[in-house]
Order: sequence, then C-alpha cells, then structure tokens
Amino acid sequence: MKMDGCSKTCVYLLFLMLIIDLFFNAMPCVSFTSYVFGDSLVDAGNNDYIFTLSKANSPPYGIDFKPSGGRPTGRFTNGRTISDIVGQALGAKSFPPPYLAPNTQSDALHGGINYASGASGILDETGYLFIGRIPLSEQVKYFEENRSYMVNAMGENVTKEILNKAIFSLTIGSNDVLSYIQPSIPFLGHNKVSPTLFQQFMVSNFTIHLKRLHELGARKFIVVGVGPLGCIPYVRALNLLPSGKCSVEVNEFIQGYNNKLKDTLKQLNKDLGPQSVFVYANSYDIFMRIIMSYRQYGFEDSDGPCCGGYFPPFICLKGKNGDNSSVMCSDRSKYVFWDAYHPTEAANLIIAKELVDGVGDESITSPINIRQLYNYNYSK
Ligand SMILES: *[C@@H]1O[C@H](CO)[C@@H](O)[C@H](O)[C@H]1NC(C)=O
Ligand SMILES: *[C@@H]1O[C@H](CO)[C@@H](O)[C@H](O)[C@H]1NC(C)=O
Ligand SMILES: *[C@@H]1O[C@H](CO)[C@@H](O)[C@H](O)[C@H]1NC(C)=O
Ligand SMILES: *[C@@H]1O[C@H](CO)[C@@H](O)[C@H](O)[C@H]1NC(C)=O
Repeated sequence: MKMDGCSKTCVYLLFLMLIIDLFFNAMPCVSFTSYVFGDSLVDAGNNDYIFTLSKANSPPYGIDFKPSGGRPTGRFTNGRTISDIVGQALGAKSFPPPYLAPNTQSDALHGGINYASGASGILDETGYLFIGRIPLSEQVKYFEENRSYMVNAMGENVTKEILNKAIFSLTIGSNDVLSYIQPSIPFLGHNKVSPTLFQQFMVSNFTIHLKRLHELGARKFIVVGVGPLGCIPYVRALNLLPSGKCSVEVNEFIQGYNNKLKDTLKQLNKDLGPQSVFVYANSYDIFMRIIMSYRQYGFEDSDGPCCGGYFPPFICLKGKNGDNSSVMCSDRSKYVFWDAYHPTEAANLIIAKELVDGVGDESITSPINIRQLYNYNYSK
C-alpha cells in the first residue's frame, strides 16, 4: 500500500483536531474558586461546630435549601445565601464548604472555603453576648494557615496563580453596627465612642484585614457594605416603630459607615494598582429599594419576619411535634424577611442578581460588577 501523504479523511481529522484544540484553548477557565468571609448573612455552617447562641441548625432553617433536601445546614435563611447564589451565577458547581466542617478536606482548599461565622464582626469584641463566634481577624488567620498548607502541597507559584483568580468576598459589619446601637447594659456597658469615631474604627480595622489578605495573594475582592438594618424586624421592634417605618437614625449611621468604606476601597484600588480590584457591593440601596417597593418585586410583606413572629424574642424554631406551620408564614416567597434579622432566599436572589450583572449603574457595584470582576484578567 502506498502512503500518499494525507487522505481526504485524514485531512478532515486533522482539521477537526485543530478546531477542537482551538476551541479548548480559547475557552475561558470555568473553574471557580471563592473564599467567603463574613457573618450570619453568609455563614454556611461554621457555627454548627462551635459553642454559641448564634446557630441555625434546626428546622425550619434550610427548608428550601435543595442540596440538603430541606434540612438545616447552618445557613441563617430558608434557602441559599447571597454568596451561594453569586457563586452559582458565575458557574460554580458546588458551594465552598464550611471551614470547620470535619469533612472539609484539604483538596477543597483550592476550590474555596467558607470562613463566615454568625454573630461575628469586624471588631473582635463584637458579638460577645453570643459567646462563640469567629471574628474577621480569626477568619483571616485561618485562611493564612490554609494557604501555608497549599504552598507546601502545590508550591508558591501554583498557589499564587490560584489565588490570583479566586474571588474573596467579605460580608461583615452588621453585627458591629447592631452592638453599637444596642442600648447599653447598665454596669456592663462601657461608654460609647461617637458615631463617627466608631465608623472609623470599623473601616480602619476592616482595612487592616483587607491589606493582609492582599499580602497573602488575594487580588479580586468583593466588599459588601452594611444593609439598611434600621428596617429589619429586630431593630423596628427595639425602637417600637410602627409598621412600614425604619429607624432613620440607624440607617444614617450605616450610610455614614458605607460611604467611608467606599472611599477607602477607592483609595485601595488606586494605591495597589491594576493587579488587584476591590469591588464595593452596595447592598444597602438594593435592599432598601426592595423594602420600599416590595410589591413591584412580587412580595406581600416587607415588615415582619416569615418565621418567628413580629415580637421579641423572635425565635424561629419548629413547634411541638415537628409542626413548622405555627412558626412560619404560608408563602415564603412573598416575604422579604425570613427571621427578625435575615432576608429570605427570595430577597437574596434579587440582591445577588443585581450585584453580579447590574450594569450601567455605579451605585450598585463599583468600579465594576461581579461578573466583570470574575472575568477580569490582568496581565503585565
Ligand atoms: C485549615 O486551617 C485550619 C486551622 O489551622 C486547620 O485546622 C485545617 O486543618 C486546615 N486545613 C487544611 C486542609 O490545611
Ligand atoms: C516560580 O516563579 C518564579 C518567577 O516567575 C520563577 O523564577 C521560579 O522558577 C518559579 N518556581 C518554580 C518552582 O516553578
Ligand atoms: C480598631 O478598633 C478598636 C476599637 O475596637 C480601636 O481601639 C482601634 O484603634 C482600631 N484600630 C484601628 C487601626 O483603627
Ligand atoms: C414542615 O416541615 C416538613 C419537613 O420537616 C415539611 O415536609 C413540611 O412541608 C413543612 N410544612 C410546611 C407548612 O412547610
């Protein structure tokens, strides 16, 4: 048999191989790595493993969380958190496991970890009334230790490359605000600093942790501002506000903090150059819009919690004999608030969508949206 170079079929096969090769090399990297830091808004179960009064480990928490079949996972809502939904929108196949879960393996590290802890704050002392919680400083320390493990296992360069592309999200500050506005306990309470000084403490302490993460190789940051806590059922009750009213004082305090945070992130973007991006996520305005125009978003109630009722102590737990109907609203998709502190999955979905793909509106995310951050590729 004579070999006459490449037959028709052969040419076709070569062509096909070339196409396949081009296709795969041109495909954007679909791996998604995310390290999640924060409080109960994004805790995915860490507090289940510590001694604390801040837990979401019994029904009906998690009732709409499909991967667990409706069983509680430690998430402080009925379904997915904003962080879960953002990850899915960017193509994540699974949720970063809680750092403290005993089945979290070392091979999970390069896929991302969730360090968030209910009741925690930017300041170490925040949340002491709940006893156990992992403050932001400790969350960062845990990441640092896990990073060392990665460096040992994969080398400095590979670790660096993974962290370069990973998303670092930080959703924290609500508990610092709540502890500041709480009426001080006689004899126990210490003198409060001025609102402005407290905002500065929050921002400057936050900045220390952001810079530390940057030193450790983080490059893509999502920094979430504090939402309008003046409108959550707990604060409304604390201030004896009639339905539909929010605490103006609390919301102004939060806006003061958010503005300082936003300015600081702008400065970090300038100082640290184009290799890193700090996205400010303005959940305040989105959430406020949902509360004010809740009917336009398909909700029927933006006042009270779906679970736990309108009055203190707001306990959202299954009733006797597993009867959850007594503590829960009949349609969870019609409520903005799940319990006295946390939004429902329905509200989280709207917020996450705007943060990921909100366009042409610097007031939602700045300087770019989360999808743009994910696709951001700085090459010197
Ligand atoms: C992550 O860090 C914690 C705290 O040091 C440690 O207990 C855990 O084993 C680490 N996991 C891995 C896989 O390095
Ligand atoms: C790591 O990267 C640096 C700089 O790009 C290079 O000089 C070095 O050889 C790399 N180390 C390894 C172990 O690949
Ligand atoms: C961090 O906050 C504490 C108050 O909790 C404050 O005393 C300290 O000065 C702050 N640190 C910085 C760097 O601002
Ligand atoms: C109560 O919880 C059970 C599972 O624990 C669930 O099957 C049932 O649908 C829930 N009831 C309501 C009203 O959602």
